[in-house]
Amino acid sequence: MVAAWITALPRSPRVLRRTALGALLGAASGLARAAKPAVLLRFSHVVAPDTPKGQMALRFQALVHERAGGRIRVEVFPDSQLWGDDDEMEALRLGAVEMLAPSLSKFGNAGVPEFEVFDLPYLFADLAQVQRVTQGAVGRGLLQRLGRQQMLGLGFLDNGFKQMSATRPLRTPADFSGLRVRVQASRVLAAQMRALGARPVVLPFGETQRALASGVVDAAENPLSNFLTQGLAPWQPHLTLTQHGYLGYAVVSNPRFWASLAPTDRALLDSALADALAHGNRLAAALDQQALATLRRTPGVMLHQPAAAERAVLRRAVQPAWDGLRRSLGPGLLDDVQNALITG
Ligand code: SIN
Repeated sequence: MVAAWITALPRSPRVLRRTALGALLGAASGLARAAKPAVLLRFSHVVAPDTPKGQMALRFQALVHERAGGRIRVEVFPDSQLWGDDDEMEALRLGAVEMLAPSLSKFGNAGVPEFEVFDLPYLFADLAQVQRVTQGAVGRGLLQRLGRQQMLGLGFLDNGFKQMSATRPLRTPADFSGLRVRVQASRVLAAQMRALGARPVVLPFGETQRALASGVVDAAENPLSNFLTQGLAPWQPHLTLTQHGYLGYAVVSNPRFWASLAPTDRALLDSALADALAHGNRLAAALDQQALATLRRTPGVMLHQPAAAERAVLRRAVQPAWDGLRRSLGPGLLDDVQNALITG
């Protein structure tokens, strides 16, 4: 009920939405007092429900409700309704939300720079390679490092590979020259765009559509499910299938919240999340293909497939992003990731 009111709120300005949200939640908490669950878990994220992250969060909610018999309630807030990606991790640390799944690119800026390894362009050939890293020892080590920033890392989720969009095709470095490209707050992504001759502009995800519509930025990189569900096509009619970088998520919680749970509740949440993540990871490639099929049929959208030779030129051009990360992190983690790609 509350979620329905919140969904009906205008998307901006976010401050107004938050104020209204606070009032609604206050009223709703009064209504809900009669049948208060033992545990309330708010899961906030920034994308649409019909994406790998949106679907994973809803599956987690359904599984918890089915297995906990009313003891635990999960409330899911999509589309930056509760927190945006510029303040969600601070909200988690302060206990204003219990679960998030920020994109891996956001953790560097939050004090865990090792996660920026996932932003390296052309690092992964496919999702199977990604999973060799995220589901193995390297992934477990990275989740543990989140503890340094008062976050408990619970698991990884795929979205997919990013494609470039703009008002023109982007097949060669010359095509990028001078473009203002929206990027997430990651040094690797900024270096990648600079290496291509573009100007990186860091913006929260929830502000990207307006920035493109008003001409504050000219271009963006997104996996197809995000491009489609954010309605970017009218402002970005040229979609070049560069497949140049990976976008995935780490599910995190507040360690104090997690420690405060009864062991049986913690075990229930752990197992529901493992099942929901497996569901989301199975779904990711299918949603990507569905989005591609929809975009192919969308009037006004022009898809461009770079040739192998064009892809090789782009790949060489972004080498400075690799050099920068190797300098800042040292070779250790990068070597571990590259070994995991081969051996699992
Ligand atoms: C997300 O998928 O959570 C957002 C990614 C972005 O900021 O581009």
